[in-house]
Amino acid sequence: MEAGETTLRVSKIKDGTVIDHITGGHALDVAKILGITGRTNGIVLIAMHVPSKQLGTKDIVKVEGRELEPGEVDKIALLAPHASINIIRDYKVVDKKNVKLPDTIQQTVKCGNPACISNSNEPVHPKFYVKSQEPLMIRCHYCGYIMEKQDILKQF
Ligand code: CTP
Ligand code: ZN
Repeated sequence: MEAGETTLRVSKIKDGTVIDHITGGHALDVAKILGITGRTNGIVLIAMHVPSKQLGTKDIVKVEGRELEPGEVDKIALLAPHASINIIRDYKVVDKKNVKLPDTIQQTVKCGNPACISNSNEPVHPKFYVKSQEPLMIRCHYCGYIMEKQDILKQF
């Protein structure tokens, strides 16, 4: 329970997804990954800088009425490698998974070096090695270009 012993800081949802244990400060980035804007329908609850025993502070995003695509989960793992994805049905947590940041990243990110072969017309797909999870640092397999969280966020 995210608010400790006495209060629940944001209400429970009935059906949908709770992304919990998001690295503090990244809730709005997660919302962006999920395509949540003020103009989308459905209930969305966002909590930021909530005290957490494990993380110091954490953010939480709760989305009613939808489950996440694998591509969305891969993006969330880059920003919030400790996040858990809870599927809620009829108020119960029916599935809980921790996101996992793989050692190599493919598909999710494009190389920031315009001269990289992965940005040419060659049939070469982006590929990166994760050098550090937090702070995030990934290195392009082809040109060695290093990308950090801020560079990656611009693509989402
Ligand atoms: N949650 C919710 N609506 C529900 C059920 C759960 O919003 N109907 C939220 C809880 O508030 C919590 C998350 O989903 O943020 C996971 O719920 P639960 O597994 O019950 O909480 P914890 O045991 O605290 O989870 P963890 O061990 O992953 O911290
Ligand atoms: Zn490159």
